Amino acid sequence: MKNVLGYQGEKVVITGAASGMGAAAAKLLTELGAEVYALDIAQVSVPVAKAIKVDMKDPASIDAALPELPDEIYALFNCAGVPSPPFSPLDTVYINFCGLRYLTELLIPRIKNGGSIASIASTAGMAWRPKLTQVNEFLALDSSFDAATKWMAENPEHCAEGYGFSKQCIIIYTMSMAKELAQKGIRINCISPSPTASGFMDKLKGEGQMPDDAIDLFLPSNGRYATRSEMGDPLVLLNSKLSSFVSGQNLPVDYGYCAEVFMGQRDDLLGIAK
Ligand SMILES: NC(=O)c1ccc[n+]([C@@H]2O[C@H](COP(=O)([O-])OP(=O)(O)OC[C@H]3O[C@@H](n4cnc5c(N)ncnc54)[C@H](O)[C@@H]3O)[C@@H](O)[C@H]2O)c1
Repeated sequence: MKNVLGYQGEKVVITGAASGMGAAAAKLLTELGAEVYALDIAQVSVPVAKAIKVDMKDPASIDAALPELPDEIYALFNCAGVPSPPFSPLDTVYINFCGLRYLTELLIPRIKNGGSIASIASTAGMAWRPKLTQVNEFLALDSSFDAATKWMAENPEHCAEGYGFSKQCIIIYTMSMAKELAQKGIRINCISPSPTASGFMDKLKGEGQMPDDAIDLFLPSNGRYATRSEMGDPLVLLNSKLSSFVSGQNLPVDYGYCAEVFMGQRDDLLGIAK
């Protein structure tokens, strides 16, 4: 049963490892014996093999990190993300999705057969079905940030709030890439967390942007926020060899919040059951 998760001695790349869910996942990965390469705009305190300053909204910054990353990678964890507000819709989509896709596509050729990718979406992206046509149109653009900027300016009705759209993009991108990646022996999945105590939540609540009682509407029936490890752990599980036949999935990690909505047991405030 030693090395049951398969990370011992493996090289993994993780964004957003300076705090929150990414820091929790990075810490667990180091404890499991992985060689961890962390990309973040902020200082990383987990004792990783290498921490590299990267701004996920800047493709040149991502490009500059590439020579510092290993030629062969077992797993990629896409954890970096911000809320809007306080971030602008454009910056939010850049950081949460455009940067994520840009990095992922640069690293796919380095991910080995049997490797995998796991990203963090959100409950806020769960209403992806009614937006499938528009998001697919956005995903069909070339992956340049300029193309994204132009599309967002021309289609504000679909992306003006920024955050939900960025997370719908992650969910649909994850499902869309599963076929191509399966042919390379690579898996791809994402999780959709319910409200979690983290720096993200502090930013979302900061300066009264979103009051506690508005966020409480999205808490599961256990009545509490998740901890950052309660999101980091399932991410590590999804990218581990215990999940070796799991791909193309968006896993709600929400103590049953979405299940309650789908079963009509609570109001569908986000339209996720449509
Ligand atoms: N906290 C929640 O309630 C919640 C719920 C659903 C989804 N999420 C998602 O979870 C992910 C992790 O967030 P968290 O809750 O752990 O918050 P967090 O703020 O603690 O962590 C986010 C990390 O992303 C990094 N980051 C932010 N902007 C960056 C940039 N431009 N370039 C590089 N790194 C950058 C931050 O420095 C930080 O380390 C995010 O994608 C967020 O959208 C959070």
